Amino acid sequence: NLPKKVTIIEVGPRDGLQNEKLLVPTDIKKQFIASLRSAGLKEMELTSFVSPKWVPQMGDAAEITANCLDEKTRNIVLAPNRRGVDRVYSTECQAVAVFVGVSNSFNLKNINKTTRDSMAELRPIIRELKDKNYFVRACISTAFYCPYEGKIGEKNTLELCREFVLAGVDELSVADTIGMAAPNESFSLFSLLKAEFPEILITAHFHDTRKLALANILAALQAGIDRFDTSAGGLGGCPFAPGAAGNAATEDVVYMLERMGIATGVDLDKLIASIEIVIPYLSKKIETGYYRLHSQT
Ligand code: HMG
Ligand code: MG
Repeated sequence: NLPKKVTIIEVGPRDGLQNEKLLVPTDIKKQFIASLRSAGLKEMELTSFVSPKWVPQMGDAAEITANCLDEKTRNIVLAPNRRGVDRVYSTECQAVAVFVGVSNSFNLKNINKTTRDSMAELRPIIRELKDKNYFVRACISTAFYCPYEGKIGEKNTLELCREFVLAGVDELSVADTIGMAAPNESFSLFSLLKAEFPEILITAHFHDTRKLALANILAALQAGIDRFDTSAGGLGGCPFAPGAAGNAATEDVVYMLERMGIATGVDLDKLIASIEIVIPYLSKKIETGYYRLHSQT
C-alpha cells in the first residue's frame, strides 16, 4: 500500500553545505537554490540562522533569505533559539524549522543547552510563530542513535515529538543524525509516529553513513511516510555529530521512487545540473550512485 506520490524536502543548501569547511560563495548558493527549485523541489531548507561563530558557512543567512524566497514553494530556514527567530523576523520568510536532539549530550554539543532547556525556550517561541501564521517544522535529531549516548529508546523520541506537537508544530522531521538506524528500526519508529500523530506532517531525515539511507526510506514508506528530507549530491552532516556523513542523496531517492512508480515531481537532469553548480566549490567528491552513472554517460 505505498503512496502514489511523495514530497521531497531538499536540504542541500542547509544541511548539505553547513559542514563544508571552505565558504561557498553566496552567489553560488543563490544559483544552487534557484536551480534546485527549477528541478521541481517545492520545499527546501535554504539556510540557518545560527551563530556564525559556530557554523561560519551559514553566516550569509540574511543575504540568502533576502534573495532566495519564492512565493510558490515552501522556503524553510532553521533557527535554534530566540536570537535566531528574531533574525528570521527581520526577513520575509514564512517557514521556520527549530531543532532539538532527543539526546541531551548531543543537544549540549549542538546548541549548548540541555534538551529540557531548549524546549523551555522553544515552547513559547513556537506558540508565537503560530500566532503570527508561520509554518513551523521541528527537526528531531538523534531520534535513533546518538554519537555520545548510543542507542536512543523509541519512547524518548516519542516523548519529545509529543512535546513539540503539544507546542503546536505543523511538521516533525525525525532524523537519524549519524546514519546508524536499520530498516526495522525505521519501520518501527515511523509506524508509531504515524499512529500517534495522524494530523501532523511527518518527515523522515536519514543520513547515509552506513549506506542504509535508501533501505531506511523504503522501510519508512512501508510505515506510511510520504515526506523525505534529502540533499542533492548526498552532501551534508552536522558539524557537532562526529561520524555523520551526508544525507540521503536526492538523485538516488528520486531515481528509486520513480522506478517504483512513485511520483516525486523532480526532474533528474535538472537536479544533476544543480549539483554541478556547487561541485567546483566543494571539498568532497560526489559519489552517489545516480550521479556517477550519469557523469559516465
Ligand atoms: P552560545 O554560544 O551558547 O550562544 O551558542 P549564547 O546564547 O551564549 O550567545 C553567544 C553569542 O552568540 C551572542 O553574541 C549571541 O547574540 C550570539 P555576542 O553577544 O557574543 O555578540 N547568538 C547568535 N548569533 C546569531 N544567530 C543566533 C545566535 N544565538 C546566539 N541564532 C547557539 C548557542 C545555539 C547560538 C549555538 O550553539 C549554535 O549556533 N548552534 C547551531 C549549531 C548548528 O547549526 N548545527 C547544525 C544544524 S542541526 C542539524 O544539522 C541536524 C539536522 O540536520 C537533523 C539531523 O540530521 O539530526 C537538523
Ligand atoms: Mg541532518
